[in-house]
Amino acid sequence: MSKPIRFALLGCGTVGGGVAELVARDGTYLARRIGAPLELAHVLVRDLGKVRRDVPASLVTTDAERVLSDPSVDVVVEVMGGEEPAGSYLERALRAGKSVVTANKALLAVRAPSLLAAANEHHADLAFEASVGGAIPIVRALRDHLVSDWVRSLRGIVNGTCNYILTRMRDEGASFTEVLRAAQELGYAEAEPSLDVDGHDAAHKLCVLALLAFGAVVRPDEVPTEGIRAIEPIDLRFAARFGYAIKHLAVGRETRGEGGPLLDLRVHPALVPARAPLASVDGVLNAIALEAEGAGAQVLVGRGAGALPTAVSVVADLVDVARARRAGVSGLLTEGLDVARRPLAPARAQEAIWYLRMRVLDRPGVLAQIAGALGQSSVSIEQMVQEGGSGRRASDSDDDETRVIVMLTHSASERDVRAALTVIDALAFVRAPSLALRVEQ
Ligand code: NAP
Ligand code: HSE
Repeated sequence: MSKPIRFALLGCGTVGGGVAELVARDGTYLARRIGAPLELAHVLVRDLGKVRRDVPASLVTTDAERVLSDPSVDVVVEVMGGEEPAGSYLERALRAGKSVVTANKALLAVRAPSLLAAANEHHADLAFEASVGGAIPIVRALRDHLVSDWVRSLRGIVNGTCNYILTRMRDEGASFTEVLRAAQELGYAEAEPSLDVDGHDAAHKLCVLALLAFGAVVRPDEVPTEGIRAIEPIDLRFAARFGYAIKHLAVGRETRGEGGPLLDLRVHPALVPARAPLASVDGVLNAIALEAEGAGAQVLVGRGAGALPTAVSVVADLVDVARARRAGVSGLLTEGLDVARRPLAPARAQEAIWYLRMRVLDRPGVLAQIAGALGQSSVSIEQMVQEGGSGRRASDSDDDETRVIVMLTHSASERDVRAALTVIDALAFVRAPSLALRVEQ
């Protein structure tokens, strides 16, 4: 057996703790698969006072310099999160010829091109399976398997926290705040959970997916992004009545523009037909549905967050890069990956069927004014339901006078739908901001 492959762990929280656990549990087997033992060299943290299982206390440090300047370290595993100082640490490691494994999609979304360049220049590996889809091998699928094909579209449930919250709201009518707290306790949520519920984590992941699927360098602030805060149990109920589930999606597809192909990238909650594979992906599960030219359709499903599902992907990467180092062929993982800026489709021009929900006072003429405002913006109604009245409240938070009107439209652009809702929400009988969700066929 070759000499040990020494790795430093930057971060030892939910994911880092899982990585330490797997390496401690399966070290002998992993050594056989790599052809060399894995040796934990350092564990960088913020707080020396916390108890860490599976990690010798003598290796735990807050001294980043000591970790990064150690020439005996072969691989840096970054599971601390955030853009800085993680980004600088990883650039430095790659420039020193060390291989890097990271789960940090927030960092990759903004710095992948420079990290890839550093990896290529210094013949080091940059592996990031855990950055999207938790335990799902989506990075390998796009980077390695589909190297022989062209991806034309993808739709993913890529945030476990959002999917967990929507599922429990639907099944138990549980409150948003209560379920978010549970997701945090289970280790699903980001250190700053607004990254999850406001859609930014999914946008970060979509940037990573766009890089691998379409060779596109896209900044997260260019991706139209909506979260799930506006979704209520009543929407999940109405969607089911119309034959749909509501899922938080990251969508990427190639479309035709006047001047050539454009990339349509979006993150938002959407209604998905109940018979579609994504509709039954519940709880913390993630799924990515791909449409590729030769391979056709495929769907990858698995646990999208949590300590061990994520650590499984991190350790798989660690094994890959350790094997490459032992064989003296580091740097092949992302070598030749062509990435460039690509023109994006104007988001608000894209057409869709829409689910609209409005809260109004029960007054004569209300429906006529709503239909009029929609008609003025060329949005036509396909079906409509009204709830409340006759002593029944549409939801616990509504009073006896409030009616909830829900409709599905015919195909219309987002620009037209938003214009109509601006007019509708200014009408005196409207009690709360209206909600518009796309239907993804
Ligand atoms: P976490 O539980 O908050 O752990 C973060 C770890 O990094 C902690 O050990 C923390 O030290 C350490 N750390 C943070 N900033 C540091 C700094 N400036 N210097 C030194 N140490 C620092 O986070 P996590 O859930 O494990 O997530 C880690 C990364 O994995 C993030 O990029 C996240 O997006 C990604 N990820 C997470 C999941 C998941 O399910 N949780 C799934 C996929 C990807 P202390 O322990 O001393 O506070
Ligand atoms: N907070 C993320 C999620 C972790 O809920 O999906 C996995 O990337």
